[in-house]
Amino acid sequence: MSGAIFYDTQHGSTRDYANWIAEATGLPTYNIREDDTALTQCDFIILGCPIYYYKPLAASWMRRHTAALCAKPLIFFTVSGAPPSDKLNGWLAASLPPDLLIHAEHFALQGRQVPKELRWHDRLMLIIAGLANRDRKAGREEIEGFDYVDRQSIQPIVEKINALRAADATGKDKAG
Ligand SMILES: Cc1cc2nc3c(=O)[nH]c(=O)nc-3n(C[C@H](O)[C@H](O)[C@H](O)COP(=O)(O)O)c2cc1C
Repeated sequence: MSGAIFYDTQHGSTRDYANWIAEATGLPTYNIREDDTALTQCDFIILGCPIYYYKPLAASWMRRHTAALCAKPLIFFTVSGAPPSDKLNGWLAASLPPDLLIHAEHFALQGRQVPKELRWHDRLMLIIAGLANRDRKAGREEIEGFDYVDRQSIQPIVEKINALRAADATGKDKAG
């Protein structure tokens, strides 16, 4: 069974996670802004996407490719400042088709934000959002940045990929 890892990124943390999953599984990686043709050719899909302004950066690409994404097993990992939470799930529910969310197995990973690497517009927006945020920890992080990138957190995703491959091998054994 051939899987492939697709990702979107602006500042590299989602690409790092995608590359670590690739190292652990041997699957190929594709930046969706450069090449997404393998989407219809692989047997299962791993899709990594950062959260920007309360929605997945690739939300419109995901809406456009809903049929292809729902046609085979889909492991969807988000990379965000927010930890796994109802808040994060609410952002996904507000920006992605319900069918896609029901079909996908979602894993929430945490990323990094380095203020001096941001475009001035993003920096300004985050300062405004940070000052207004009633969750003061999240508000401070929006202004001062954070680094929650953790290579170990890919482990449940790697295990899920291994389980998909094992189930496929068992199915083939029975059929053969
Ligand atoms: C302009 C901007 C907006 C962001 N908006 C959110 C957000 O709404 N919710 C959240 O949890 N994290 C937010 N983040 C944090 C990103 O999800 C985090 O930095 C992630 O690691 C970025 O992924 P990337 O390095 O692959 O681009 C934002 C970061 C930036 C720079």
